[in-house]
Amino acid sequence: MKSLSIIASLALLISSVVAQEGATVPVTTSAPSTYTCDPNTCKIENNCLCASTSAPGGLSPADTPQFVTVTYDDSIQEALMATALGMVNVTNPNGCPGHGTWFVSMQYTDFSLVQQWYAAGNEVADHTFSHVGTPSAEEISSVKEMLNAYAGIPYSKIQGFRAPFLNYTKDTLGLVSQQGFKYDSTASAVTDDMYWPYTLDNGLANDCWTGICAAGQVKLPGLWEIPMYSVLDKANVPQLMDVYLAGTPADTTQWSQAAFDKHYNGNRQPFGIYVHPTHLTTYPGGVDDPKEKFNAVIDFIKSLAAKPDVWFVTNQQLLEYMKKPVKASELGSQTYMQCQQPVIAQDICNGLDDDHNGVIDNGLINSCNFGTTSMKTCFNCPATAPSLSNPVPASAAQNGTAGYRNRIGDNCDTTWWDPIGNKCLCTTADCEVKSVAVPKSETPSTTNSTSVTPGDAVKDNGAAQIAGVSTAVMAALFVGLSQLL
Ligand SMILES: *[C@@H]1O[C@H](CO)[C@@H](O)[C@H](O)[C@H]1NC(C)=O
Ligand SMILES: *[C@@H]1O[C@H](CO)[C@@H](O)[C@H](O)[C@H]1NC(C)=O
Ligand SMILES: *[C@@H]1O[C@H](CO)[C@@H](O)[C@H](O)[C@H]1NC(C)=O
Ligand SMILES: *[C@@H]1O[C@H](CO)[C@@H](O)[C@H](O)[C@H]1NC(C)=O
Ligand SMILES: [Zn+2]
Repeated sequence: MKSLSIIASLALLISSVVAQEGATVPVTTSAPSTYTCDPNTCKIENNCLCASTSAPGGLSPADTPQFVTVTYDDSIQEALMATALGMVNVTNPNGCPGHGTWFVSMQYTDFSLVQQWYAAGNEVADHTFSHVGTPSAEEISSVKEMLNAYAGIPYSKIQGFRAPFLNYTKDTLGLVSQQGFKYDSTASAVTDDMYWPYTLDNGLANDCWTGICAAGQVKLPGLWEIPMYSVLDKANVPQLMDVYLAGTPADTTQWSQAAFDKHYNGNRQPFGIYVHPTHLTTYPGGVDDPKEKFNAVIDFIKSLAAKPDVWFVTNQQLLEYMKKPVKASELGSQTYMQCQQPVIAQDICNGLDDDHNGVIDNGLINSCNFGTTSMKTCFNCPATAPSLSNPVPASAAQNGTAGYRNRIGDNCDTTWWDPIGNKCLCTTADCEVKSVAVPKSETPSTTNSTSVTPGDAVKDNGAAQIAGVSTAVMAALFVGLSQLL
């Protein structure tokens, strides 16, 4: 089922965690952080922010919103998407739906679902083309090409990266920066290093025990790091992804609650729930039905969402906040926290059920078959299967023939782009949109249509078995459980 690869040994650690996407993470280390940053020279006006455990903007914890980021890794497929949607099926304090971020790898991904995920207000980010531990430049760049060509995501909205197996290196982060990404979210945070997101102008401040924080290692001005915040299990072992796999539903709920409380009753650093949806998805005839685990995770999520100052956000929304922090009471009115959808009378292939007949993109989705693989998309099927060297092959259809789909341009957002009509339905300041906000804890009500400027419009698998290893050893083991789904 899995193969173990031991890839490094160094440094003193007390205990460690093993994740499929992951390395061992020590609870305490002997290697001191060499990170230094002067907030007088590193200022947010210049897109620079020092790593800090304190809330941005000098806000007191009581005034600071508690963000929860739910993130998903690997391919987007139908059964996985249902699981993922269930995990952000909450209402934020301003009545807008909660949202999450999916780090997508390309193999086995259904691009029509990617588009629907994004159209609902969620974020898509880059997890490499074929889920490799040491990605080439093409492994990273091809994802952007494909998400744009086959899911109609504007290049400017693809901003994040997470390394497969959480196996990031200085070189990988360099590529991510070169390719214009705005953030990485791969580094792990345990206790002392529970930093709010920060820029890498002064290097990394997380995972310092590996040596990555040392001078001359990473220095990438303007690139943000959104650390992955771990959950400590009962043996005090940091669990990073798929926490629920390490214990019974009752156990993992308790560990997760304790970790959340540490954030919520502390400096309100964002709290993360990081999953491979496949582990919470019930498959027909599946052997170990995770239904009980899934229900426990959903109950935990709903309990968090019941708090008046807890917000389920995408990583991009979190970074918008970092750039201009406001009190929790003002968050709901920020532009990036709104939830509006276009008012379009007929279904266009944009990831939404425009005509409200219960079917998204009714009859408009292309099914592309290449013999051994297939994919679905609102855009043209390529003549051959996409590959790493040719992620967007020439289209099978000829321009000018019926049903030809046109790629989205830089000046349009996904939900306004009609690939068949070849036009952007929102190019002026008075596009008709409707809010999908509902009063919290109440039933949906009819909402009024309003006008907004285009900029405001709409929005802004691996099997991860976590095996806790609790050891007092002199050698740190980087253990990657490598498996591709
Ligand atoms: C969201 O929650 C509602 C109410 O509990 C439920 O009816 C609906 O099926 C859920 N949707 C998803 C996608 O899980
Ligand atoms: C992680 O990256 C290192 C350095 O590039 C590489 O040697 C190793 O094979 C990678 N591990 C995995 C699991 O891909
Ligand atoms: C297809 O044809 C339309 C109309 O002539 C044109 O606007 C569009 O740019 C063409 N698309 C491509 C990819 O050449
Ligand atoms: C819709 O707008 C009207 C007029 O501004 C207002 O009276 C009404 O309460 C609004 N309805 C909702 C559901 O917001
Ligand atoms: Zn992955």
